[in-house]
Amino acid sequence: MAKNLIIYYSRKGQNYVNGSILELKKGNTEIVAELIEKNAGGDLFQIEPVEDYPVDYMQTTEVAQDELRAKARPALKRYLDDISGYDNVFVCGPCWWGTFPMMMLTQLERLDFTGKTVYAVMTHEGSGLGGSEKTLRQSCKGAAVGKGIAIHGAEAAKSESSLKRWLASNGLM
Ligand SMILES: Cc1cc2nc3c(=O)[nH]c(=O)nc-3n(C[C@H](O)[C@H](O)[C@H](O)COP(=O)(O)O)c2cc1C
Repeated sequence: MAKNLIIYYSRKGQNYVNGSILELKKGNTEIVAELIEKNAGGDLFQIEPVEDYPVDYMQTTEVAQDELRAKARPALKRYLDDISGYDNVFVCGPCWWGTFPMMMLTQLERLDFTGKTVYAVMTHEGSGLGGSEKTLRQSCKGAAVGKGIAIHGAEAAKSESSLKRWLASNGLM
């Protein structure tokens, strides 16, 4: 049976949902990553930056924009170094300024994806998949990039049926 790895970053706390700032107990992407694990199986790996982002939503958007402009690679609390045992890698993250947060690239660029298929799983407030698949093509050395899925962040908890359809259409469940 194919082995799946689910790499995710998710920021709980203040977030922008349908035009208002709300306090999320669990981040949208974490909800989606766990639904993928429930339905397709696999190991979860959470990306955690050494430096926390501001509690304030607007301040976080500013820090994230600076990181994008600077092509920053923020340090992580722990790293995956060897993914040779996996066939499929789901890269799950929020859309930050049109693509994955820079810290996800810190992790992805360290890995050898030869022979693996990666899938972009992006939660967002309107941008859809944005540039996430292009980012994966550039950052995941040797990978084939499969068809990803965009989930509206506010609908994360209600996304199980869409996720199942998407997993099935890719032969992943
Ligand atoms: C720093 C930052 C930048 C964002 N940029 C975008 C964006 O460019 N497009 C978009 O649709 N949503 C954007 N959002 C909204 C998030 O992508 C969305 O709320 C997502 O579901 C959050 O996932 P999380 O709770 O797992 O962190 C941004 C949110 C933050 C905090």
